[in-house]
Amino acid sequence: MANTLKKLVALTGAGISAESGIKTFRDSGGLWEQYDVMEVASIGGWRKNPQLMQRFYNERRKQLSEVEPNAAHRILAELEAYFDVTVVTQNVDNLHERAQSSKILHLHGELTKARSCADSNWVLDIGYRPIEWGETAPDGSLLRPHIVWFGEAVPMIGAASETVAEADILVVVGTSLNVYPAAGLVAYAPRETPIYVVDPNDIVCPGRNVTSIREKATAGMEKLKKMLLE
Ligand code: APR
Repeated sequence: MANTLKKLVALTGAGISAESGIKTFRDSGGLWEQYDVMEVASIGGWRKNPQLMQRFYNERRKQLSEVEPNAAHRILAELEAYFDVTVVTQNVDNLHERAQSSKILHLHGELTKARSCADSNWVLDIGYRPIEWGETAPDGSLLRPHIVWFGEAVPMIGAASETVAEADILVVVGTSLNVYPAAGLVAYAPRETPIYVVDPNDIVCPGRNVTSIREKATAGMEKLKKMLLE
């Protein structure tokens, strides 16, 4: 039976995981205040000091094992009872999965996966364990985090833009819309599609029909759910 539910697409960023205890990138006290993003999250950084980058992701992977999804992740999953929901996330954590969202598209990779340096299609689920320095894939190349670094292509951006182009409702949660091509996805929403932005800060979001919910993700998603279901 064709899915007659309205298509709700949620473009999420680090802010939706903030209340789970995971730092965002660009807020005060954020990750990019502690680390030089080009040293720990770029292909140039990997070439320069792969051990440092391996350690950076091992630490984030370990922290992920110690945190839980929050109410915002859970409300998004609950909305699947009322809408055909697709989560397009910039986050590399697995909190949407653990909150039981069923359609998730990771634009920037996944912390719980590793891959061959020589073949980006050879991917291994490693859960929360560290990648030991020198660990190799069967093809003999170094095992690396399955993360899209600055300077690398975003393989899922095509699928993501097609998904947003079909959205009846677009929800933007916890992203500063600073990083392209992810931030450009908002422009793919059909002109008449309502866009809801959930963020405690004032985010400039293009669109003809934008509603801003100036709240943290948990309170904001609660408000949004009421608005969408009233
Ligand atoms: N609830 C909702 N939003 C929040 C909360 C919260 N509790 N706390 C902060 N925010 C908002 C901030 O106001 C900001 O708009 O979350 C957003 C976080 O923005 P960034 O730190 O830039 O994170 P994000 O947009 O996900 O970064 C995109 O940049 O470094 C790369 O690959 C990395 O995927 C990441 C990408």
